[in-house]
Amino acid sequence: MSTGSASSDDTPATFSARLKAATWDAHGEAEQQGFTRALLDGRLPRDAYAAMVAQHYFAYAALEEVGRALAGHPVAAAVVDPALFRLPALERDLDTLSGPGWRDRISPSRPTRTYAARIEQMADDPAGYVAHHYTRYIGDLSGGQFIRRVAARAYGLTDTAGLEFYVFDQVGSLPRFKEGYRARIDSLGLDEAAQRRVVRETRLAYQLNTEVLADLERTHEAGLAA
Ligand code: HEM
Repeated sequence: MSTGSASSDDTPATFSARLKAATWDAHGEAEQQGFTRALLDGRLPRDAYAAMVAQHYFAYAALEEVGRALAGHPVAAAVVDPALFRLPALERDLDTLSGPGWRDRISPSRPTRTYAARIEQMADDPAGYVAHHYTRYIGDLSGGQFIRRVAARAYGLTDTAGLEFYVFDQVGSLPRFKEGYRARIDSLGLDEAAQRRVVRETRLAYQLNTEVLADLERTHEAGLAA
C-alpha cells in the first residue's frame, strides 16, 4: 500500500504522509491481531463483536471528553469536530447488540483502562491528542468502512442498526473529509520536535489499541477457533 507522496529522497513531502509512513508498521500489528483477523474473516461471534463495541465505548468516552475540553486550543482545533463524535452511535449500537441494561453489564478491560487513562493525560498535550484522534477517527473512516460491510454480513444486520459507529453521515464524502483532515494537520506547521511527538504518540496509540484487541482475543478464545 502506498504510504503517501514522497519527495525524491523518499522523505515524505508532508507531515500527514510522514505520519502514515512512520506508523504504518504499527497499523499492521493492530490489523494482524487474531481478534481482528477473525472479525475480517466473518468468524467472530456476535457476543465477541459486542464486547469490542463495549470497549470502544470507554475509549471514545475519554477521546470525546478530552476533545471537548481541547476544542478551543489551536492545535487540537485542527482535528476536533463534533460531526465525528461516536459516543451516541456506540450507545445505540450497544442497545441493538447487547439489549437494554447493557450499561450495567459492561466494564473497561485493564488495557482499555490504560488506553483511556493515556487519552485523558492528553488534556495537557494537544499535539499528543491529535495523535489519538487521528489513530481512531481516520481509522474508522478507512478500514472501519470495510469492517462495517463484513459485520453487516456476519451478524445479519440489514440496515444501520448495530453499525452506527461506522456511519459518518455528518461529514460528507469520506475521501474528501480525510483529504481535508490531512490538509489541516499539515497546515499546523508543527516543528520537528512536535512532529516527532505526534508520531511517537500515534505509535503508542496503535500499541494501546493492539493490547485492547489482544485482551479481547484472550477473553473470547473459545469462540475464535478457526
Ligand atoms: C480491522 C482491520 C483493519 C483493516 C482491514 C484496516 C484497513 C485500512 C486501510 C485499507 C487503510 C488505508 C486507507 C487509505 O489509504 O485511505 C487504513 C488506514 C488507516 N487505519 Fe486501518 N485497518 C484496520 C485496523 C485499524 C486499527 C485497529 C486502527 C487503529 C486503532 C486503524 C487505523 C488506521 C488509520 C489511522 C489509518 C489512516 C492512515 C493514513 O492514511 O494516514 N486501522 N486502514
